[in-house]
Amino acid sequence: MKNLDFIYNRKSVRKFKDSEVPREDIIKMLDAAIHAPSPKNQQTWHFVVIQNKELINKIADIVEKNHTNLAEMAKVEKQRKLMMTLLPYYTCFKNAPVLVVVYSKEYYMIEETILKDNNASEEVLNELRFPNSTAQGIGAAIENFLLAATELGYGTCYMTGPTHSKVEIEELINFEKDEYKLMAMISLGVAEDDTPNSPPRKSLEEVVTFVE
Ligand SMILES: Cc1cc2nc3c(=O)[nH]c(=O)nc-3n(C[C@H](O)[C@H](O)[C@H](O)COP(=O)(O)O)c2cc1C
Repeated sequence: MKNLDFIYNRKSVRKFKDSEVPREDIIKMLDAAIHAPSPKNQQTWHFVVIQNKELINKIADIVEKNHTNLAEMAKVEKQRKLMMTLLPYYTCFKNAPVLVVVYSKEYYMIEETILKDNNASEEVLNELRFPNSTAQGIGAAIENFLLAATELGYGTCYMTGPTHSKVEIEELINFEKDEYKLMAMISLGVAEDDTPNSPPRKSLEEVVTFVE
């Protein structure tokens, strides 16, 4: 597979056409997602697919209400306004045809358990936890989903911003699986024609070092 267009064609889509996404296409994206690598292959992900626009928009309303309340905590008006500039990015799934809510449980790090049993210091344990492997596994799965969606002609947006409302969203969705919590969301649909291009990237020179 030499054609990497599916990487370069992906961009975050925050406005969608009204077109539906057939279930078989969603399943292809989910199957791509579960083929991602995960720490010790524990596959601690669970995907909840919502196609009910009323429910999707209720989730957006919850995020809007909570975000506005959080912004009110800023004592300086300039900061409150700055907080509010984020709101469109946290509610950009409103009216999306599909919202995939990604849940995960904590990945089980056997070495952490062994070292805890042996009275390792918090400093040592925190070093082990620092890479947050649970989140990295979820991120790998989500990226596979996004790339598969691009290849199938759809637009997506990977979002963690709305998770400040995770408890209320979890209650509304009413999905229950022991120890699983909401980690991220993906909006999905056919992109509006005026979707802006991805923002520029830092140069490879800035972010890559080859060590001889
Ligand atoms: C972990 C993660 C969380 C993100 N959360 C949000 C979000 O809450 N809202 C949003 O609009 N975009 C979100 N994004 C998308 C980024 O803003 C976007 O990927 C970045 O600006 C680069 O643009 P591109 O995806 O078009 O290339 C998130 C991306 C990642 C990887």
